[in-house]
Amino acid sequence: MQTEFRVLVLESDPAIGKELQSVLNFIGSSPVLVKDVDRWKEAVDDKEQLQAVMLGSCNSGKQLSAILTEIHQFDEHLPVYLLSDKGKEPTVTIDSGSCILGRLELPPNYTQLTSALHQAEIYTESHRAPQSEQRPVDLFRSLVGSSRAIQNVRKLVQQVADSDANVLILGESGTGKEVVARNLHYYSSRRDKPFVPVNCGAIPGDLLESELFGHRKGAFTGAINDRQGRFEMAEGGTLFLDEIGDMSLQMQVKILRVLQERTFERVGSNQSITSDVRIIAATHRNLEEAIVQGDFREDLFYRLNVFPIEMPSLANRVEDIPLLVNELVRRIEYEKRGSVRLSPGAIYSLCQYNFPGNVRELANLVERLAILHPYGVVDASDLPEKFRQHDTERDGELPEQVADALIGTPVTSHDLDPRLPRDGMNLKEHLSLLEVSYIKQALADTGGVVAHAAKRLGMRRTTLVEKLRKYGMQRQS
Ligand SMILES: Nc1ncnc2c1ncn2[C@@H]1O[C@H](COP(=O)(O)OP(=O)(O)OP(=O)(O)O)[C@@H](O)[C@H]1O
Ligand SMILES: [Mg+2]
Repeated sequence: MQTEFRVLVLESDPAIGKELQSVLNFIGSSPVLVKDVDRWKEAVDDKEQLQAVMLGSCNSGKQLSAILTEIHQFDEHLPVYLLSDKGKEPTVTIDSGSCILGRLELPPNYTQLTSALHQAEIYTESHRAPQSEQRPVDLFRSLVGSSRAIQNVRKLVQQVADSDANVLILGESGTGKEVVARNLHYYSSRRDKPFVPVNCGAIPGDLLESELFGHRKGAFTGAINDRQGRFEMAEGGTLFLDEIGDMSLQMQVKILRVLQERTFERVGSNQSITSDVRIIAATHRNLEEAIVQGDFREDLFYRLNVFPIEMPSLANRVEDIPLLVNELVRRIEYEKRGSVRLSPGAIYSLCQYNFPGNVRELANLVERLAILHPYGVVDASDLPEKFRQHDTERDGELPEQVADALIGTPVTSHDLDPRLPRDGMNLKEHLSLLEVSYIKQALADTGGVVAHAAKRLGMRRTTLVEKLRKYGMQRQS
């Protein structure tokens, strides 16, 4: 399928229209210039190919707002840019609900138009994703990352998922302990049964027992009905005891008993209930230290620690940051909460930050950026102060693999293990030569059609056009 992106330019001033047309042609879009704004619909043949509308001065009987409504009715997700002379405000206010993505100053300038088209591309992409490409919710259980540390975690998960062994997940806060627990459940034969998480640290000590084991009516003040506990709810499935390091010694004894005997009683009852539940526990605490301090039972530790999985901190696997950002953005898109992209410079800056809050901190940042820069491209300078690095010289020089990872083409490491020559090399030059060579091949393969070549290279058309310009390569179409 030919995916030529077109930009509809509605501009009744012929000089401005021509200028816009030539800049847009240069960028690699196919502008459709319409001077008679009242008849714009006649100029549009394929709605799917329309990427954006640029709305300038219209010598029309209609109000600008009426034309906007027509565009909106034609395609509610078609991004619109308002054109106005430098220093002059457009007469229509820009609000996020109306698909007006921004305003462009006249005379048109290359940088402004490129970034607008880039933004429009992200916007349309996220709104027009075909149903089949929508990712099933299950995929969000996946443990994203290509670092050795996370590969190792994935291997351990695979090894132990489909057994009934207790698993203890250790690691700093926000490293993905719950993600691992859900993965273990998902890849086990208990998958169709419940996964029941309990945050042992968040439930007050005296309530935890009834929360876990349930109670009989009248067992204590407030127990007005019989109540099922989490163990019963998880029957046949998995019980995730999160923050087990915060559990009182008294409760630890009770958990130990269920682990040993597979039976328990509801609070206030002497009837034993047999339990078939797989236990996964997690904590950010050092349990061996807690044992020494007398805060954690050694026998329970050995029961739980049959198969420990240690989650690496994010600072120890910065190479996963681009993939994680990609995943977190896709999650936002999937939940229809907008979208955002990060420039290689911004990613580079993040790779230098130490993330005390780990992946959770990164997830919060991405959410915040999606709100602050809807469908925009965030550069290093747009990041909140603490994530910004001051080593501006290296800013933006992140290897291309990182940029590619950002647009959803994760780099596989199998053919990326070339040997460094004994005398060293000029890496930058080498990468440029590689890049030029691949671009030439992609263009040759696709008969010089830039949009298709970009697809083969897993990059945006606008990125490829930018590279062609950088390397002084001729576009053939
Ligand atoms: N490898 C990963 N891939 C995708 N998302 C991840 C990954 N690791 C963590 N996350 C996301 O980061 C956030 C924190 O993960 P999670 O809740 O599993 O961490 P945690 O170790 O249990 O943290 P805490 O100790 O604060 O409870 C979640 O939004 C989770 O979806
Ligand atoms: Mg957690």
